[in-house]
Amino acid sequence: MSADIIDGKAFAAGVRERVGRQVASLKRDHGLTPGLAVVLVGEDPASQVYVRNKGKSTTEVGMHSFEHRLPAETTEEALLTLVAELNAAPAVHGILVQLPLPDQISEAAVLAAIDPAKDVDGFHLYNVGLLSTGGAGLVPCTPRGCLMMLKDRLGDLTGLRALVVGRSNIVGKPMAQLLLGANCTVTIAHSRTRDLDEECRRADILVAAVGRPRMIKGDWIKPGATVIDVGMNRIDDDRPGAEPGKTRLVGDVDFDEAVKVAGAITPVPGGVGPMTIACLLANTVTAACRAAGIKEPEV
Ligand code: GUN
Repeated sequence: MSADIIDGKAFAAGVRERVGRQVASLKRDHGLTPGLAVVLVGEDPASQVYVRNKGKSTTEVGMHSFEHRLPAETTEEALLTLVAELNAAPAVHGILVQLPLPDQISEAAVLAAIDPAKDVDGFHLYNVGLLSTGGAGLVPCTPRGCLMMLKDRLGDLTGLRALVVGRSNIVGKPMAQLLLGANCTVTIAHSRTRDLDEECRRADILVAAVGRPRMIKGDWIKPGATVIDVGMNRIDDDRPGAEPGKTRLVGDVDFDEAVKVAGAITPVPGGVGPMTIACLLANTVTAACRAAGIKEPEV
C-alpha cells in the first residue's frame, strides 16, 4: 500500500486564499490594511529567495509589504535602530528579520528588540514563554503549518504518540509544544538520541526536522503513521540518468521507502515548505487584528 501524499502546496494556497479574504474584509469593514516588514541583512542567496517570495505573497493577499535590505557589514546598532523604527511604525503590524544574521550581529539581541506584539516569527522569548505555558502568543510559522496539516489529516490528535526529531528553536521545540497543547504524548529526539529507529517505530505522528538528508528510513516508520518532513537538504542528484553536477532537494525522511509504509506523508519539495509563508501571512493578520482591537479570524 502507498501512503496518501499531503499536498502542502495546495493546502498553503487554500490558507493564502482565506487570508486574502480576511484582508479584504479588514480593509472594507475597518479601514485596516495589515503590513509586514521583512528585513534582510547581507546577500545570502537562499535568504534573498525567501525574502522575495515573502514580499510577493504579502502583496498578493492585499497586505502592505515593507522590505529593508541592508549590507552585510551593517552593525548591530544600525539594525537595532531599524527594528525600533519598525516597532514604532503604525502601518507595520508584523516584523520579520531574516535569519541567519552576519557574525557581528547578535541574533538574540535583535530578536529580543522586536515588539512581541509584532513578532510574527514567534521567536521573541515572550512568545516562546506563552507557547510553553499555553498562552495566546504568536506561534512560529513552520510548526504552526505542520500542526494545521496534521489536524486536517487526523482531526483530534488527543492521545496520539508524536515524535519530533530535531530540537531547534525554530522548529523542533515549538513543534513539540504545539503537539503537547493538542494533547499528544510527545517525545523529542535528536541526532544524539540512542535507538532512534525504535523511537520512530512507536510514533503515530513523526515530525522530522533534523537537517540530515534521508536519515529516517522506511522500516523505522510505524505502518499507517502520519509523517511530516520539515527537512530541506540540497544533495547531488543521484537518480539514474541525472545530469552530472545537478542537485535536488530531499527531506530528512527517505521518501521512496517511507511512502510504502506510512499512512500519509508530506513530500519535499511541496509539503511543509509552502505552509511557512502562508502561516506568516496568517500571523500578520492576527497581529494586525490584535493591534486594532478587532476579533481575529480563524484560519
Ligand atoms: N530563516 C530560515 N527560516 C526562517 C524563519 O522561519 N524566520 C526567519 N526570520 N528566518 C528564517
